[in-house]
Amino acid sequence: MDDKRFIANRALTEDDGDVSLRPTTFDEYIGQDKVKANLKVYVAASKARGEALDHVLLYGPPGLGKTTLAHIIASELGVEIKVTSGPGIERAANLASLLTNMQERDVLFLDEIHRLNHSIEEVLYPAMEDFALDISTGKGAGATSIRLNLNKFTLIGATTRAGMLTGPLRDRFGVICRLEPYSADDLVRIVKRSAKLLKIAIDDDAARELASRSRGTPRIANRLLKRVRDFAEVYNDGVISLAITQKALTDMEIDPLGLDYNDMKLLNALVKKFDGGPTGLDTLAAAINEDAGTIEDVIEPYLIQLGFIARTSRGRIALKAAYAHLHVTPTKKATEQLSFLTDGSQYE
Ligand SMILES: Nc1ncnc2c1ncn2[C@@H]1O[C@H](COP(=O)(O)OP(=O)(O)OP(=O)(O)O)[C@@H](O)[C@H]1O
Ligand SMILES: [Mg+2]
Repeated sequence: MDDKRFIANRALTEDDGDVSLRPTTFDEYIGQDKVKANLKVYVAASKARGEALDHVLLYGPPGLGKTTLAHIIASELGVEIKVTSGPGIERAANLASLLTNMQERDVLFLDEIHRLNHSIEEVLYPAMEDFALDISTGKGAGATSIRLNLNKFTLIGATTRAGMLTGPLRDRFGVICRLEPYSADDLVRIVKRSAKLLKIAIDDDAARELASRSRGTPRIANRLLKRVRDFAEVYNDGVISLAITQKALTDMEIDPLGLDYNDMKLLNALVKKFDGGPTGLDTLAAAINEDAGTIEDVIEPYLIQLGFIARTSRGRIALKAAYAHLHVTPTKKATEQLSFLTDGSQYE
């Protein structure tokens, strides 16, 4: 992602500051109800059987709570969690040593699993499937392989880029959970919860305003809350009112819907350059000089949630709400396409 991504959506250390805003139990974790309900069942069942939980893959855009959820799963299972990441594992031996140190039923959290080197990935296959490591000794014709048994552990993989995972790796996860952008209501609850933990006074309408400008993302909501608190302390005795929130967000150049530079770049291209589409993903990617996978996994989910764009079998199309947001009147061709679309028949 480039530097222009103003409300940069990455795991920075500022995420939590002094007080941890991270929920630590399923009950504290707001939203994602379907994912949560299913995970609760799997955790309860594996606990009752005294077995390791099946391997879990968590995927979805940055800042939606994958890392948080991985820690919650381990803690609800009552086991230890070891944390590593795809780029952090440089050699197969690093991964092998991590795996041999796993205790029965413990969790290994492998963040950014799509960035795992492919030769290292192969070490994971037998480890996930048979809880074994194949270690080869010797070279050439005399080479032999010995099999080392591992304790039965749970791998939790997280990725923003599910499309970049190889088939064999994906297939080895028994549980696959996709996190979606949060609804405004869920984000209001998240903002209020964080405000309480940080001992910040915030009005209801201000919480809603913040929530609706957070791009469906708890991390952004928490970050904006802290920045707006700064404005409130300077201008309003620390109380976050709607007026202060609007002033702060406008001063920070945050779009009323929280859209950032990349979102706008995509919308502008689709509406202005491609007359509303349908435009193939790769064409769109080339036009805005962005990676197709990033568009699909990181940029589009929120635009789809807003009803700004749709994925159809013929490509991406801009919907009415996108034209309204950009203050662009659809061309004749685009108008025809939009009215044709209202019956929904062209959707995937
Ligand atoms: N469901 C939730 N309820 C309340 N707060 C949440 C929730 N999900 C995430 N958060 C907050 O958002 C922050 C970001 O979440 P987290 O780090 O788990 O995201 P992530 O999906 O792992 O992001 P990345 O892809 O960048 O690693 C957390 O510090 C937490 O405070
Ligand atoms: Mg994370």
